Amino acid sequence: MKNFEILKRLYNEYTKKHLNKIFLAVFFSILVAVSTSATAWLLDPAIDKIFLNKDQTLLVIIPIFIIIAFATKGISLYIAKVLMIKVAEEVKKKIQIDMLSSFIQADTENIENKHTGKYISNLNFDVNQITMMLSNSFLNLFKDGLTLIGLLTVMFVQNWRLSLIAIIMIPFASITARRLGKRISKVVTEAQEKSGDLNKYLIDLFKNHKIIKIFQREDYENVRSEKFVNELKEKSIKISTVFIRATPIMEILTGIMIAILIFYSGKLIMNEQLSLNNFFSFLAAMMLAYQPVKSLATINVGVGQGLSAGKRILPIIDTINKISQNSEKNNLILDTGSINFNNVKFNYLSNLENKVLKNINININGGKMTALVGQSGSGKSTLLSLIPRIYDPNSGTLEIDGQNIKEVNLFSLRKEISIVDQNVTLFDDTVFNNIKYAKPNATDEEVYKAAELSMCIDFIDKLENKYQTIIGENGVRLSGGEKQRLSIARAFLKDSKIILLDEATSSLDSETEEKIQKALEKLILNKTTLVIAHRLSTILKSDKIFVMDKGIVMDSGNHEELLKTSETYQNFYNKQISKN
Ligand SMILES: Nc1ncnc2c1ncn2[C@@H]1O[C@H](COP(=O)(O)OP(=O)(O)OP(=O)(O)O)[C@@H](O)[C@H]1O
Ligand SMILES: [Mg+2]
Repeated sequence: MKNFEILKRLYNEYTKKHLNKIFLAVFFSILVAVSTSATAWLLDPAIDKIFLNKDQTLLVIIPIFIIIAFATKGISLYIAKVLMIKVAEEVKKKIQIDMLSSFIQADTENIENKHTGKYISNLNFDVNQITMMLSNSFLNLFKDGLTLIGLLTVMFVQNWRLSLIAIIMIPFASITARRLGKRISKVVTEAQEKSGDLNKYLIDLFKNHKIIKIFQREDYENVRSEKFVNELKEKSIKISTVFIRATPIMEILTGIMIAILIFYSGKLIMNEQLSLNNFFSFLAAMMLAYQPVKSLATINVGVGQGLSAGKRILPIIDTINKISQNSEKNNLILDTGSINFNNVKFNYLSNLENKVLKNINININGGKMTALVGQSGSGKSTLLSLIPRIYDPNSGTLEIDGQNIKEVNLFSLRKEISIVDQNVTLFDDTVFNNIKYAKPNATDEEVYKAAELSMCIDFIDKLENKYQTIIGENGVRLSGGEKQRLSIARAFLKDSKIILLDEATSSLDSETEEKIQKALEKLILNKTTLVIAHRLSTILKSDKIFVMDKGIVMDSGNHEELLKTSETYQNFYNKQISKN
Protein backbone atom coordinates (compact mmCIF):
# COMPACT_ATOMS: atom_id res chain seq x y z
CA MET A 1 0.00 0.00 0.00
CA LYS A 2 1.35 3.41 -0.94
CA ASN A 3 1.73 6.14 1.70
CA PHE A 4 -0.75 8.32 -0.10
CA GLU A 5 -3.35 5.55 -0.15
CA ILE A 6 -2.87 4.94 3.56
CA LEU A 7 -3.38 8.60 4.33
CA LYS A 8 -6.39 8.76 2.07
CA ARG A 9 -7.99 5.79 3.79
CA LEU A 10 -7.18 7.01 7.27
CA TYR A 11 -8.74 10.32 6.30
CA ASN A 12 -11.84 8.95 4.58
CA GLU A 13 -12.66 6.20 7.04
CA TYR A 14 -11.52 7.58 10.34
CA THR A 15 -10.79 11.31 10.35
CA LYS A 16 -13.30 12.85 7.99
CA LYS A 17 -16.21 12.71 10.39
CA HIS A 18 -14.31 14.80 12.93
CA LEU A 19 -13.71 17.57 10.43
CA ASN A 20 -15.62 20.14 12.51
CA LYS A 21 -13.27 19.62 15.45
CA ILE A 22 -10.27 19.71 13.15
CA PHE A 23 -11.39 23.02 11.61
CA LEU A 24 -11.84 24.41 15.09
CA ALA A 25 -8.31 23.28 15.94
CA VAL A 26 -7.06 25.01 12.79
CA PHE A 27 -8.86 28.17 13.84
CA PHE A 28 -7.13 28.12 17.23
CA SER A 29 -3.85 27.37 15.48
CA ILE A 30 -4.36 30.57 13.51
CA LEU A 31 -4.82 32.41 16.80
CA VAL A 32 -1.59 30.86 18.08
CA ALA A 33 0.22 31.98 14.94
CA VAL A 34 -1.16 35.51 15.07
CA SER A 35 -0.48 36.01 18.76
CA THR A 36 3.04 34.60 18.52
CA SER A 37 3.83 36.88 15.61
CA ALA A 38 2.27 39.78 17.48
CA THR A 39 4.64 39.35 20.42
CA ALA A 40 7.61 39.70 18.06
CA TRP A 41 6.08 42.57 16.15
CA LEU A 42 5.21 44.53 19.34
CA LEU A 43 8.93 44.92 20.11
CA ASP A 44 9.19 47.34 17.22
CA PRO A 45 6.79 50.03 18.62
CA ALA A 46 7.97 49.19 22.12
CA ILE A 47 11.56 50.12 21.36
CA ASP A 48 10.74 52.92 18.99
CA LYS A 49 7.91 54.64 20.91
CA ILE A 50 8.73 53.80 24.52
CA PHE A 51 12.51 53.54 24.74
CA LEU A 52 13.55 55.98 22.04
CA ASN A 53 10.61 58.48 21.97
CA LYS A 54 9.54 58.05 25.64
CA ASP A 55 5.79 57.95 24.79
CA GLN A 56 3.78 57.90 28.06
CA THR A 57 0.50 56.39 26.81
CA LEU A 58 2.13 53.54 24.93
CA LEU A 59 4.17 52.78 28.03
CA VAL A 60 0.95 51.28 29.43
CA ILE A 61 -0.76 50.10 26.27
CA ILE A 62 2.05 48.01 24.77
CA PRO A 63 2.68 45.91 27.91
CA ILE A 64 -1.08 45.26 28.07
CA PHE A 65 -1.05 44.10 24.47
CA ILE A 66 1.89 41.84 25.23
CA ILE A 67 -0.06 40.21 28.06
CA ILE A 68 -3.07 39.76 25.78
CA ALA A 69 -0.91 38.25 23.04
CA PHE A 70 0.69 35.73 25.39
CA ALA A 71 -2.62 34.83 27.00
CA THR A 72 -4.24 34.28 23.60
CA LYS A 73 -1.34 32.09 22.55
CA GLY A 74 -1.46 30.00 25.72
CA ILE A 75 -5.20 29.46 25.74
CA SER A 76 -5.47 28.80 21.99
CA LEU A 77 -2.65 26.30 22.11
CA TYR A 78 -4.38 24.47 24.94
CA ILE A 79 -7.73 24.35 23.15
CA ALA A 80 -6.18 23.25 19.85
CA LYS A 81 -4.29 20.44 21.57
CA VAL A 82 -7.32 19.24 23.52
CA LEU A 83 -9.41 19.20 20.35
CA MET A 84 -6.87 17.15 18.45
CA ILE A 85 -6.36 14.74 21.36
CA LYS A 86 -10.11 14.12 21.31
CA VAL A 87 -10.11 13.52 17.57
CA ALA A 88 -7.12 11.20 17.86
CA GLU A 89 -8.73 9.17 20.64
CA GLU A 90 -11.95 8.83 18.65
CA VAL A 91 -9.95 7.61 15.68
CA LYS A 92 -8.06 5.18 17.91
CA LYS A 93 -11.31 3.80 19.24
CA LYS A 94 -12.74 3.29 15.77
CA ILE A 95 -9.59 1.60 14.47
CA GLN A 96 -9.50 -0.71 17.48
CA ILE A 97 -13.16 -1.59 17.04
CA ASP A 98 -12.53 -2.39 13.38
CA MET A 99 -9.51 -4.51 14.24
CA LEU A 100 -11.34 -6.41 16.95
CA SER A 101 -14.26 -7.05 14.67
CA SER A 102 -11.90 -8.37 12.02
CA PHE A 103 -10.36 -10.68 14.65
CA ILE A 104 -13.83 -11.88 15.65
CA GLN A 105 -14.73 -12.68 12.04
CA ALA A 106 -11.33 -14.04 11.06
CA ASP A 107 -10.97 -17.51 9.60
CA THR A 108 -9.73 -20.03 12.15
CA GLU A 109 -6.85 -20.79 9.84
CA ASN A 110 -5.70 -17.15 9.88
CA ILE A 111 -5.91 -16.95 13.64
CA GLU A 112 -3.96 -20.16 14.03
CA ASN A 113 -1.19 -18.90 11.79
CA LYS A 114 -0.53 -15.77 13.80
CA HIS A 115 0.41 -15.51 17.43
CA THR A 116 -1.85 -13.66 19.87
CA GLY A 117 1.12 -11.54 20.93
CA LYS A 118 1.41 -10.07 17.44
CA TYR A 119 -2.24 -9.11 17.43
CA ILE A 120 -1.87 -7.48 20.82
CA SER A 121 0.99 -5.33 19.68
CA ASN A 122 -0.89 -4.39 16.50
CA LEU A 123 -3.85 -3.41 18.60
CA ASN A 124 -1.90 -1.26 21.05
CA PHE A 125 1.46 -0.16 19.72
CA ASP A 126 0.49 0.41 16.10
CA VAL A 127 -2.79 2.11 16.81
CA ASN A 128 -0.96 4.46 19.18
CA GLN A 129 1.45 5.43 16.43
CA ILE A 130 -1.50 6.49 14.32
CA THR A 131 -3.01 8.44 17.19
CA MET A 132 0.28 10.22 17.75
CA MET A 133 0.48 11.08 14.08
CA LEU A 134 -2.91 12.78 14.31
CA SER A 135 -2.64 14.49 17.67
CA ASN A 136 1.01 15.55 17.40
CA SER A 137 2.23 15.61 13.86
CA PHE A 138 -0.83 17.03 12.16
CA LEU A 139 -1.51 19.58 14.86
CA ASN A 140 2.12 20.70 14.66
CA LEU A 141 1.78 20.96 10.93
CA PHE A 142 -1.05 23.52 11.20
CA LYS A 143 0.15 25.28 14.28
CA ASP A 144 3.84 25.52 13.48
CA GLY A 145 3.27 26.02 9.77
CA LEU A 146 0.98 28.97 10.40
CA THR A 147 3.20 30.37 13.15
CA LEU A 148 6.20 30.19 10.86
CA ILE A 149 4.30 32.06 8.16
CA GLY A 150 3.32 34.73 10.68
CA LEU A 151 6.84 35.12 11.99
CA LEU A 152 8.37 35.19 8.52
CA THR A 153 5.95 37.98 7.65
CA VAL A 154 7.14 39.97 10.67
CA MET A 155 10.74 39.31 9.66
CA PHE A 156 10.19 40.44 6.07
CA VAL A 157 8.31 43.55 7.17
CA GLN A 158 11.15 44.47 9.49
CA ASN A 159 13.96 43.80 7.03
CA TRP A 160 13.81 41.69 3.91
CA ARG A 161 17.56 41.42 3.39
CA LEU A 162 18.12 39.87 6.81
CA SER A 163 15.13 37.61 6.26
CA LEU A 164 16.57 36.22 3.05
CA ILE A 165 19.73 35.20 4.89
CA ALA A 166 17.66 33.56 7.58
CA ILE A 167 15.55 31.45 5.22
CA ILE A 168 18.57 30.16 3.33
CA MET A 169 19.21 28.01 6.38
CA ILE A 170 15.82 26.29 6.33
CA PRO A 171 16.56 23.78 3.52
CA PHE A 172 19.69 22.60 5.34
CA ALA A 173 17.65 21.77 8.38
CA SER A 174 14.99 19.91 6.41
CA ILE A 175 17.47 17.75 4.49
CA THR A 176 18.92 16.39 7.74
CA ALA A 177 15.43 15.81 9.07
CA ARG A 178 14.36 13.84 6.01
CA ARG A 179 17.26 11.45 6.27
CA LEU A 180 16.48 11.06 9.93
CA GLY A 181 12.86 10.22 9.19
CA LYS A 182 13.74 7.20 7.04
CA ARG A 183 16.07 5.86 9.68
CA ILE A 184 13.45 6.28 12.37
CA SER A 185 10.69 4.43 10.53
CA LYS A 186 13.04 1.49 10.13
CA VAL A 187 13.93 1.39 13.82
CA VAL A 188 10.30 1.80 14.84
CA THR A 189 9.25 -1.15 12.72
CA GLU A 190 11.96 -3.22 14.36
CA ALA A 191 10.82 -2.06 17.80
CA GLN A 192 7.26 -3.01 16.95
CA GLU A 193 8.37 -6.52 16.08
CA LYS A 194 10.33 -6.80 19.29
CA SER A 195 7.39 -5.65 21.36
CA GLY A 196 5.27 -8.26 19.58
CA ASP A 197 7.84 -10.90 20.49
CA LEU A 198 7.70 -9.82 24.12
CA ASN A 199 3.91 -10.10 24.15
CA LYS A 200 4.13 -13.53 22.55
CA TYR A 201 6.61 -14.63 25.15
CA LEU A 202 4.48 -13.35 28.03
CA ILE A 203 1.48 -15.31 26.80
CA ASP A 204 3.60 -18.45 26.52
CA LEU A 205 4.91 -17.92 30.05
CA PHE A 206 1.40 -17.71 31.45
CA LYS A 207 0.22 -20.75 29.53
CA ASN A 208 3.18 -22.86 30.51
CA HIS A 209 3.79 -21.76 34.07
CA LYS A 210 3.27 -25.26 35.44
CA ILE A 211 5.54 -26.83 32.84
CA ILE A 212 8.26 -24.37 33.81
CA LYS A 213 7.99 -25.47 37.42
CA ILE A 214 7.89 -29.19 36.75
CA PHE A 215 10.86 -29.15 34.42
CA GLN A 216 12.61 -26.56 36.59
CA ARG A 217 13.38 -24.22 33.75
CA GLU A 218 13.06 -20.99 35.74
CA ASP A 219 16.68 -20.05 35.11
CA TYR A 220 16.35 -20.72 31.43
CA GLU A 221 13.21 -18.60 31.25
CA ASN A 222 14.91 -15.81 33.22
CA VAL A 223 17.67 -15.72 30.64
CA ARG A 224 15.14 -15.79 27.82
CA SER A 225 13.00 -13.06 29.30
CA GLU A 226 16.08 -10.89 29.77
CA LYS A 227 16.92 -11.42 26.12
CA PHE A 228 13.46 -10.26 24.99
CA VAL A 229 13.46 -7.22 27.25
CA ASN A 230 17.01 -6.38 26.29
CA GLU A 231 16.28 -6.44 22.59
CA LEU A 232 13.35 -4.13 23.12
CA LYS A 233 15.51 -1.81 25.20
CA GLU A 234 18.14 -1.64 22.46
CA LYS A 235 15.51 -0.66 19.92
CA SER A 236 13.95 1.93 22.22
CA ILE A 237 17.36 3.52 22.84
CA LYS A 238 17.93 3.61 19.09
CA ILE A 239 14.62 5.34 18.49
CA SER A 240 15.27 7.94 21.14
CA THR A 241 18.85 8.62 20.08
CA VAL A 242 17.91 8.99 16.45
CA PHE A 243 15.33 11.54 17.56
CA ILE A 244 17.66 13.64 19.66
CA ARG A 245 20.37 13.44 17.03
CA ALA A 246 18.38 16.16 15.30
CA THR A 247 18.98 18.60 18.15
CA PRO A 248 22.77 19.17 18.03
CA ILE A 249 22.68 19.61 14.26
CA MET A 250 19.93 22.19 14.56
CA GLU A 251 21.73 24.02 17.36
CA ILE A 252 24.91 24.30 15.32
CA LEU A 253 22.98 25.55 12.31
CA THR A 254 21.23 28.16 14.44
CA GLY A 255 24.53 29.33 15.91
CA ILE A 256 26.02 29.81 12.46
CA MET A 257 22.92 31.64 11.31
CA ILE A 258 22.88 34.06 14.26
CA ALA A 259 26.61 34.76 13.86
CA ILE A 260 26.15 35.65 10.20
CA LEU A 261 23.12 37.79 10.98
CA ILE A 262 24.82 39.76 13.71
CA PHE A 263 27.74 40.41 11.42
CA TYR A 264 25.54 41.53 8.55
CA SER A 265 23.02 43.52 10.61
CA GLY A 266 25.90 45.26 12.42
CA LYS A 267 27.07 46.45 9.03
CA LEU A 268 23.56 47.59 8.06
CA ILE A 269 23.15 49.52 11.33
CA MET A 270 26.55 51.14 10.93
CA ASN A 271 25.55 52.25 7.42
CA GLU A 272 22.22 53.48 8.85
CA GLN A 273 20.26 51.09 6.59
CA LEU A 274 18.64 49.43 9.59
CA SER A 275 17.30 50.90 12.84
CA LEU A 276 17.46 49.27 16.25
CA ASN A 277 13.70 48.77 16.71
CA ASN A 278 13.42 46.87 13.42
CA PHE A 279 16.43 44.78 14.26
CA PHE A 280 15.15 43.67 17.65
CA SER A 281 11.69 42.88 16.37
CA PHE A 282 13.29 40.89 13.54
CA LEU A 283 15.57 39.08 15.97
CA ALA A 284 12.69 38.20 18.26
CA ALA A 285 10.68 36.82 15.32
CA MET A 286 13.64 34.79 14.17
CA MET A 287 14.29 33.33 17.61
CA LEU A 288 10.61 32.45 17.96
CA ALA A 289 10.76 30.79 14.53
CA TYR A 290 13.33 28.33 15.78
CA GLN A 291 10.80 26.10 17.53
CA PRO A 292 8.34 25.80 14.59
CA VAL A 293 11.18 25.17 12.14
CA LYS A 294 12.56 22.42 14.31
CA SER A 295 9.16 20.86 14.78
CA LEU A 296 8.28 21.08 11.08
CA ALA A 297 11.62 19.63 10.05
CA THR A 298 11.01 16.50 12.11
CA ILE A 299 7.32 16.19 11.31
CA ASN A 300 8.00 13.51 8.70
CA VAL A 301 9.26 11.29 11.51
CA GLY A 302 5.92 11.12 13.30
CA VAL A 303 4.06 10.86 10.02
CA GLY A 304 6.39 8.09 8.87
CA GLN A 305 5.73 6.12 12.03
CA GLY A 306 2.00 6.60 11.69
CA LEU A 307 2.11 5.50 8.07
CA SER A 308 4.11 2.37 8.70
CA ALA A 309 1.72 1.48 11.52
CA GLY A 310 -1.13 2.04 9.05
CA LYS A 311 0.62 -0.30 6.65
CA ARG A 312 0.47 -3.01 9.29
CA ILE A 313 -3.03 -2.31 10.54
CA LEU A 314 -5.11 -1.71 7.43
CA PRO A 315 -4.36 -5.14 5.92
CA ILE A 316 -5.64 -6.71 9.15
CA ILE A 317 -8.87 -4.76 8.91
CA ASP A 318 -9.12 -5.60 5.20
CA THR A 319 -8.51 -9.32 5.57
CA ILE A 320 -11.01 -11.09 3.38
CA ASN A 321 -12.17 -14.32 4.93
CA LYS A 322 -12.07 -17.37 2.74
CA ILE A 323 -15.05 -18.73 4.61
CA SER A 324 -17.64 -16.15 3.71
CA GLN A 325 -20.81 -15.55 5.65
CA ASN A 326 -22.82 -16.30 2.51
CA SER A 327 -25.48 -13.98 3.86
CA GLU A 328 -27.10 -13.61 0.45
CA LYS A 329 -27.44 -17.38 0.03
CA ASN A 330 -30.42 -19.52 1.01
CA ASN A 331 -30.76 -20.93 4.49
CA LEU A 332 -29.93 -24.55 5.10
CA ILE A 333 -33.12 -26.57 5.17
CA LEU A 334 -32.82 -29.58 7.41
CA ASP A 335 -34.68 -32.78 6.85
CA THR A 336 -33.15 -35.76 8.63
CA GLY A 337 -29.75 -34.17 8.81
CA SER A 338 -27.76 -36.62 6.73
CA ILE A 339 -24.20 -35.60 5.94
CA ASN A 340 -22.29 -36.60 2.81
CA PHE A 341 -18.58 -36.23 2.19
CA ASN A 342 -17.80 -36.40 -1.55
CA ASN A 343 -14.13 -36.78 -2.51
CA VAL A 344 -13.10 -34.49 0.32
CA LYS A 345 -9.41 -33.66 0.53
CA PHE A 346 -7.91 -31.40 3.12
CA ASN A 347 -4.60 -30.15 4.44
CA TYR A 348 -3.79 -27.32 6.81
CA LEU A 349 -2.23 -24.23 5.24
CA SER A 350 0.58 -24.32 7.76
CA ASN A 351 1.65 -27.76 6.62
CA LEU A 352 1.02 -28.46 2.96
CA GLU A 353 3.04 -31.68 3.06
CA ASN A 354 0.74 -33.36 5.55
CA LYS A 355 -2.31 -34.51 3.57
CA VAL A 356 -4.59 -34.76 6.58
CA LEU A 357 -7.69 -36.02 4.75
CA LYS A 358 -7.27 -37.98 1.53
CA ASN A 359 -10.36 -38.42 -0.54
CA ILE A 360 -13.06 -38.97 2.05
CA ASN A 361 -16.31 -40.42 0.73
CA ILE A 362 -18.74 -41.17 3.51
CA ASN A 363 -22.42 -40.96 4.19
CA ILE A 364 -23.53 -40.15 7.73
CA ASN A 365 -27.13 -41.13 8.23
CA GLY A 366 -29.57 -38.49 9.39
CA GLY A 367 -31.06 -38.86 12.85
CA LYS A 368 -28.65 -41.63 13.80
CA MET A 369 -25.49 -41.95 15.81
CA THR A 370 -22.30 -42.58 13.90
CA ALA A 371 -18.92 -43.24 15.47
CA LEU A 372 -15.52 -42.32 14.15
CA VAL A 373 -12.60 -44.35 15.40
CA GLY A 374 -8.94 -44.38 14.52
CA GLN A 375 -5.41 -43.79 15.70
CA SER A 376 -4.30 -40.49 17.10
CA GLY A 377 -3.51 -38.08 14.28
CA SER A 378 -5.56 -40.02 11.73
CA GLY A 379 -7.68 -36.89 11.05
CA LYS A 380 -10.85 -37.46 13.09
CA SER A 381 -11.06 -34.02 14.69
CA THR A 382 -10.21 -32.41 11.38
CA LEU A 383 -13.01 -34.28 9.63
CA LEU A 384 -15.44 -33.09 12.30
CA SER A 385 -14.39 -29.47 11.98
CA LEU A 386 -15.21 -29.43 8.27
CA ILE A 387 -18.91 -29.87 9.01
CA PRO A 388 -19.51 -26.45 10.65
CA ARG A 389 -17.00 -25.00 8.15
CA ILE A 390 -14.32 -24.17 10.69
CA TYR A 391 -12.17 -25.09 7.69
CA ASP A 392 -13.14 -25.67 4.07
CA PRO A 393 -11.88 -28.71 2.14
CA ASN A 394 -9.25 -28.15 -0.53
CA SER A 395 -11.40 -30.10 -2.92
CA GLY A 396 -14.56 -32.14 -2.86
CA THR A 397 -17.88 -31.19 -1.34
CA LEU A 398 -19.80 -31.65 1.86
CA GLU A 399 -23.55 -31.92 1.72
CA ILE A 400 -26.16 -31.78 4.41
CA ASP A 401 -29.51 -33.13 3.22
CA GLY A 402 -28.30 -32.69 -0.33
CA GLN A 403 -27.29 -29.04 0.06
CA ASN A 404 -23.66 -28.11 -0.49
CA ILE A 405 -22.68 -26.43 2.77
CA LYS A 406 -20.52 -23.95 0.88
CA GLU A 407 -23.63 -22.72 -0.87
CA VAL A 408 -25.86 -22.03 2.11
CA ASN A 409 -26.03 -19.17 4.55
CA LEU A 410 -23.26 -19.82 7.07
CA PHE A 411 -25.33 -18.62 10.01
CA SER A 412 -28.11 -21.06 9.20
CA LEU A 413 -25.59 -23.88 8.90
CA ARG A 414 -23.86 -23.27 12.20
CA LYS A 415 -27.19 -22.77 13.93
CA GLU A 416 -27.93 -26.45 13.37
CA ILE A 417 -24.64 -27.75 14.76
CA SER A 418 -23.35 -28.24 18.30
CA ILE A 419 -19.83 -29.30 18.95
CA VAL A 420 -18.23 -30.57 22.12
CA ASP A 421 -14.59 -30.10 21.36
CA GLN A 422 -11.64 -32.23 22.34
CA ASN A 423 -10.00 -29.14 23.81
CA VAL A 424 -12.67 -27.35 25.80
CA THR A 425 -12.25 -23.59 25.84
CA LEU A 426 -14.14 -21.31 28.18
CA PHE A 427 -14.45 -17.59 28.82
CA ASP A 428 -13.17 -15.92 31.97
CA ASP A 429 -16.71 -15.30 33.10
CA THR A 430 -19.29 -16.89 35.38
CA VAL A 431 -20.36 -20.52 35.11
CA PHE A 432 -23.82 -19.27 34.20
CA ASN A 433 -22.66 -17.08 31.34
CA ASN A 434 -20.36 -19.77 30.02
CA ILE A 435 -23.28 -22.12 29.61
CA LYS A 436 -25.65 -19.47 28.36
CA TYR A 437 -23.13 -18.57 25.65
CA ALA A 438 -24.61 -21.35 23.56
CA LYS A 439 -28.02 -19.68 23.49
CA PRO A 440 -28.08 -15.98 24.37
CA ASN A 441 -31.87 -15.83 24.59
CA ALA A 442 -32.17 -18.85 26.90
CA THR A 443 -34.20 -18.43 30.07
CA ASP A 444 -32.53 -19.01 33.43
CA GLU A 445 -34.54 -22.23 33.77
CA GLU A 446 -33.18 -23.55 30.49
CA VAL A 447 -29.62 -22.87 31.67
CA TYR A 448 -30.26 -24.66 34.99
CA LYS A 449 -31.82 -27.57 33.12
CA ALA A 450 -28.81 -27.91 30.82
CA ALA A 451 -26.48 -27.79 33.83
CA GLU A 452 -28.52 -30.50 35.48
CA LEU A 453 -28.55 -32.79 32.44
CA SER A 454 -24.81 -32.46 31.96
CA MET A 455 -24.16 -33.23 35.64
CA CYS A 456 -22.68 -29.77 36.17
CA ILE A 457 -24.88 -29.30 39.24
CA ASP A 458 -22.56 -31.60 41.20
CA PHE A 459 -19.67 -29.20 41.09
CA ILE A 460 -21.58 -25.94 40.72
CA ASP A 461 -23.17 -26.57 44.12
CA LYS A 462 -19.73 -26.74 45.66
CA LEU A 463 -18.54 -23.46 44.12
CA GLU A 464 -18.45 -20.43 46.37
CA ASN A 465 -20.85 -18.32 44.35
CA LYS A 466 -22.62 -21.22 42.62
CA TYR A 467 -23.63 -20.22 39.09
CA GLN A 468 -22.13 -16.77 39.53
CA THR A 469 -18.60 -18.03 40.20
CA ILE A 470 -15.97 -16.65 37.85
CA ILE A 471 -14.03 -19.61 36.52
CA GLY A 472 -10.76 -17.90 35.53
CA GLU A 473 -8.91 -17.70 32.27
CA ASN A 474 -10.03 -20.67 30.19
CA GLY A 475 -11.55 -22.16 33.33
CA VAL A 476 -8.31 -22.56 35.30
CA ARG A 477 -10.30 -22.88 38.48
CA LEU A 478 -12.11 -26.00 37.21
CA SER A 479 -10.98 -29.57 36.75
CA GLY A 480 -10.66 -31.13 33.31
CA GLY A 481 -13.86 -33.14 33.72
CA GLU A 482 -15.75 -30.11 35.04
CA LYS A 483 -14.77 -28.10 32.00
CA GLN A 484 -15.90 -30.93 29.78
CA ARG A 485 -19.26 -31.05 31.52
CA LEU A 486 -19.71 -27.30 31.01
CA SER A 487 -19.02 -27.83 27.36
CA ILE A 488 -21.63 -30.59 27.26
CA ALA A 489 -24.09 -28.30 29.04
CA ARG A 490 -23.69 -25.87 26.17
CA ALA A 491 -24.62 -28.60 23.72
CA PHE A 492 -27.71 -29.42 25.79
CA LEU A 493 -28.72 -25.78 25.80
CA LYS A 494 -28.21 -25.26 22.09
CA ASP A 495 -30.10 -28.45 21.34
CA SER A 496 -29.28 -28.44 17.65
CA LYS A 497 -30.13 -31.12 15.10
CA ILE A 498 -26.54 -32.09 14.38
CA ILE A 499 -24.26 -32.92 17.27
CA LEU A 500 -20.53 -33.43 17.01
CA LEU A 501 -18.85 -34.98 20.00
CA ASP A 502 -15.06 -35.11 19.98
CA GLU A 503 -14.02 -37.40 22.83
CA ALA A 504 -16.67 -35.55 24.77
CA THR A 505 -16.48 -37.68 27.86
CA SER A 506 -12.81 -38.63 27.85
CA SER A 507 -11.88 -36.74 31.02
CA LEU A 508 -14.73 -38.08 33.11
CA ASP A 509 -14.66 -40.89 35.66
CA SER A 510 -16.73 -43.87 34.65
CA GLU A 511 -19.56 -43.11 37.08
CA THR A 512 -20.06 -39.55 35.90
CA GLU A 513 -19.59 -40.65 32.35
CA GLU A 514 -22.28 -43.24 32.67
CA LYS A 515 -24.70 -40.63 33.99
CA ILE A 516 -23.84 -38.21 31.23
CA GLN A 517 -24.12 -40.92 28.64
CA LYS A 518 -27.68 -41.50 29.80
CA ALA A 519 -28.43 -37.82 29.46
CA LEU A 520 -26.64 -37.63 26.12
CA GLU A 521 -28.79 -40.50 24.90
CA LYS A 522 -31.83 -38.33 25.49
CA LEU A 523 -30.14 -35.36 23.86
CA ILE A 524 -29.14 -37.16 20.70
CA LEU A 525 -32.39 -39.00 20.19
CA ASN A 526 -33.40 -38.56 16.53
CA LYS A 527 -30.47 -36.24 15.93
CA THR A 528 -27.54 -36.72 13.62
CA THR A 529 -24.68 -37.42 15.97
CA LEU A 530 -21.10 -37.93 14.96
CA VAL A 531 -19.00 -39.08 17.85
CA ILE A 532 -15.29 -39.64 18.05
CA ALA A 533 -14.91 -42.38 20.60
CA HIS A 534 -12.42 -44.61 22.28
CA ARG A 535 -14.89 -46.39 24.53
CA LEU A 536 -16.58 -49.57 23.58
CA SER A 537 -19.87 -48.58 25.18
CA THR A 538 -20.23 -45.60 22.86
CA ILE A 539 -19.14 -47.54 19.83
CA LEU A 540 -21.59 -50.33 20.53
CA LYS A 541 -24.49 -47.90 20.60
CA SER A 542 -23.57 -46.45 17.23
CA ASP A 543 -25.56 -47.17 14.18
CA LYS A 544 -22.48 -47.17 12.01
CA ILE A 545 -18.74 -46.94 12.60
CA PHE A 546 -16.13 -45.38 10.33
CA VAL A 547 -12.58 -46.55 10.79
CA MET A 548 -10.00 -43.92 9.94
CA ASP A 549 -6.33 -44.42 9.31
CA LYS A 550 -3.85 -41.78 8.09
CA GLY A 551 -6.49 -39.56 6.55
CA ILE A 552 -8.42 -42.34 4.87
CA VAL A 553 -11.70 -43.95 5.88
CA MET A 554 -10.64 -47.57 5.64
CA ASP A 555 -13.81 -49.40 6.57
CA SER A 556 -17.33 -48.92 7.78
CA GLY A 557 -20.02 -51.03 9.37
CA ASN A 558 -21.23 -51.97 12.82
CA HIS A 559 -19.04 -53.42 15.55
CA GLU A 560 -19.68 -57.10 14.74
CA GLU A 561 -19.18 -56.64 11.02
CA LEU A 562 -16.01 -54.69 11.45
CA LEU A 563 -14.53 -57.18 13.89
CA LYS A 564 -14.95 -59.79 11.21
CA THR A 565 -13.95 -57.81 8.12
CA SER A 566 -11.64 -54.95 9.07
CA GLU A 567 -8.05 -55.59 9.99
CA THR A 568 -7.55 -51.96 11.00
CA TYR A 569 -10.54 -52.17 13.30
CA GLN A 570 -9.38 -55.41 14.83
CA ASN A 571 -5.99 -53.87 15.55
CA PHE A 572 -7.59 -50.78 16.94
CA TYR A 573 -10.01 -52.78 19.02
CA ASN A 574 -7.30 -54.94 20.52
CA LYS A 575 -4.99 -52.08 21.33
CA GLN A 576 -7.38 -49.32 22.33
CA ILE A 577 -11.00 -50.12 22.81
CA SER A 578 -10.85 -53.28 24.82
CA LYS A 579 -8.58 -51.56 27.34
CA ASN A 580 -11.15 -48.91 28.02
N1 LIG B 1 -4.44 -26.60 13.34
C1 LIG B 1 -3.63 -27.46 12.73
N2 LIG B 1 -2.67 -27.00 11.91
C2 LIG B 1 -1.85 -27.85 11.27
N3 LIG B 1 -1.90 -29.17 11.38
C3 LIG B 1 -2.82 -29.70 12.18
C4 LIG B 1 -3.73 -28.87 12.90
N4 LIG B 1 -4.54 -29.65 13.64
C5 LIG B 1 -4.16 -30.93 13.38
N5 LIG B 1 -3.14 -30.96 12.52
C6 LIG B 1 -2.50 -32.16 11.96
O1 LIG B 1 -3.50 -32.89 11.28
C7 LIG B 1 -3.42 -34.28 11.54
C8 LIG B 1 -4.77 -34.80 12.02
O2 LIG B 1 -5.08 -34.19 13.24
P1 LIG B 1 -6.45 -34.44 13.99
O3 LIG B 1 -6.51 -33.53 15.13
O4 LIG B 1 -7.55 -34.40 13.01
O5 LIG B 1 -6.25 -35.94 14.49
P2 LIG B 1 -7.20 -36.84 15.41
O6 LIG B 1 -7.52 -38.04 14.61
O7 LIG B 1 -8.30 -36.04 15.95
O8 LIG B 1 -6.17 -37.24 16.56
P3 LIG B 1 -6.47 -37.43 18.14
O9 LIG B 1 -7.10 -38.79 18.29
O10 LIG B 1 -5.11 -37.42 18.72
O11 LIG B 1 -7.32 -36.34 18.58
C9 LIG B 1 -2.32 -34.46 12.54
O12 LIG B 1 -1.20 -34.96 11.83
C10 LIG B 1 -2.01 -33.08 13.05
O13 LIG B 1 -0.63 -32.92 13.22
MG1 LIG C 1 -8.74 -35.30 17.77
